Amino acid sequence: MKSLGVLQIQKTGSLDKVVSWAHQFPYAHPLWLGQFLGFLNIYEPDYAKAVYSRGDPKAADVYDFFLQWIGKGLLVLHGPKWYEHRKLLTPGFHYDVLKPYVAVFNNSTHAMLDKWEEKAREDKSFDIFCDVGHMALDSLMKCTFGKGNSGLSHRDNSYYLAVSDLTLLMQQRIESFQYHNDFIYWLTPHGRRFLRACQAAHDHTDQVIRERKAALQDEKEQEKIQNRRHLDFLDILLGARDESGIKLSDAELRAEVDTFMFEGHDTTTSGISWFLYCMALYPEHQSRCREEVCEILGDRDSFQWDDLGKMTYLTMCIKESLRLYPPVPQVYRQLSKPVNFVDGRSLPAGSLISLHIYALHRNSSVWPDSEVFDPLRFTPENVATRHPFAFMPFSAGPRNCIGQQFAMNEMKVVTALCLLRFEFALDPLQPPIRMPQLILRSKNGIHLRLKPLHLGSGK
Ligand code: HEM
Repeated sequence: MKSLGVLQIQKTGSLDKVVSWAHQFPYAHPLWLGQFLGFLNIYEPDYAKAVYSRGDPKAADVYDFFLQWIGKGLLVLHGPKWYEHRKLLTPGFHYDVLKPYVAVFNNSTHAMLDKWEEKAREDKSFDIFCDVGHMALDSLMKCTFGKGNSGLSHRDNSYYLAVSDLTLLMQQRIESFQYHNDFIYWLTPHGRRFLRACQAAHDHTDQVIRERKAALQDEKEQEKIQNRRHLDFLDILLGARDESGIKLSDAELRAEVDTFMFEGHDTTTSGISWFLYCMALYPEHQSRCREEVCEILGDRDSFQWDDLGKMTYLTMCIKESLRLYPPVPQVYRQLSKPVNFVDGRSLPAGSLISLHIYALHRNSSVWPDSEVFDPLRFTPENVATRHPFAFMPFSAGPRNCIGQQFAMNEMKVVTALCLLRFEFALDPLQPPIRMPQLILRSKNGIHLRLKPLHLGSGK
C-alpha cells in the first residue's frame, strides 16, 4: 500500500484529498504524521466494523493533546475508569431527562432568529456559524449545567472564542510532527497561545462548577434537586460516589465539565450550520422540509417532544447532511489486540488507526453517486439494506457518542424553527471552504442569505 503524508494533505486540502485516495485505495492506506508516526487511515464499513465494534483505547499520540484542555474526561479515558464514568453519566441522557430540553431549544432558537430578523433586513448574506454556536452553547448550559434564563455573558462569549482557537491549534498540532513533543510545543508561540486559550476555557468551566456548588449549599436548592425524579448532568457529577463511596476528585469533575461543555456545543453547531447550508444548496428539499414542519406545528409557535418523531423528511435531510458534512470528520484508536480484516489483512496490537468518517461517508462503493444530496438514502428500507458501519457520524460501538440523542433532538427543533422563519439561499461569492478543526468548520464561515417568511408561527 502506498504511504501518504500529511504534507501532501496540507498542500491540497485534506478532506477532498483523502476522498480521492479512497477511490485509489479501496479499504485503507497508511497515513504518516511526520517520519515516525504512522496511522492506518480507514474508510470502508467492514474495516470500520473490525475496529470500532471493539472498545480499543483512543490513540494517545493524538488524544493526549487534549489533556491540558479537557483533562481525562469521557472522551479521552479508557479501561475501567472510562466504563465507570460512562455508566455514571448515561442516566444524564435518559429520555425523561431529555424531554424538557425541547423547551430550552425552542427558546434559544427564537432568540437567535430574532437577531437574524434584524440582520436579514440589511439584505446581504452573513456568516451564520457564530450565531448558531452561541445559541448551541446557551442551550447546552441551560440543559446540562443548570444555567438560568439570561443570555450568554461576556465570559461565555470568551469561552466560545477560546474553543474555536483551541480546536484550530489542536488540529495544527496533530498535523505538525515537530509540535508533538510537549516540551517543544509549550515553548512555541502556538503552544503559548494554546495555554492562554485553555486558561480562558477553564475560567469559564470553573465558574460554572463554583456556582453550582454554591447553590448546593442552599438547603432549598438541595430539596428541589432531591424532588426532581431525574438529575441533570451536573447534579450527577456532584453527587457521584464510586463503589467505595469516594467522590469524583476536583480534577475528574472539571475534566467531565470541560469535555461536555466542548463536545456538547461545537459538534451540534457544525451539524446545524452545514444543514442550513445544504438547505440553501438544495431549495427543493428545503421547501419539502418546511411544508412538513409547518403542518406539524400548526398554529403553535414552539415544538414539543411528541412532534420530533413526526419530522420524517426533515430527519432524513439531517442525516444526509451529517453524511456529507460529518461534524466530527476523523477519530483515532490504538489497537489493544491484533485485528483481522475481511480481506485477510491484519494488524498487530499497538497499531494506530484513523477512521476517516468524512471519506467513509463519501465512499462510492457504499454510497452510489456519493456526492449527490439524496435524503431518501435514509428511508427505513434503504437503511435496512446498508452496512451498519457505513454511516457513523456519532461513531459506533462501545465508544460511540453519549450525546447523540440530545444532538438529534436539538438539531430537529433548531432547524425546523429556522426553516419556518426564513428562506435560506447561497451567497455565490462566498462558498464555504471545508476545513477539519477537530470538528468540521469552514475556513471563511458559512455565508447565507436569509429572507423572512412570516409563516403563522406567531413570531
Ligand atoms: C451532531 C452532534 C454530535 C456529533 C456528530 C458527535 C460525534 C461524536 C463522535 C464521532 C464521537 C466519538 C469520538 C472519538 O471516538 O474520539 C463522540 C463522542 C462523544 N460525544 Fe459526541 N457528537 C455530537 C454531539 C454531542 C453532544 C451534544 C454531547 C454532549 C452533550 C456529546 C458528547 C460526547 C462525549 C462525552 C463523547 C465521548 C464518549 C465516550 O467515549 O464514551 N456529543 N461524539
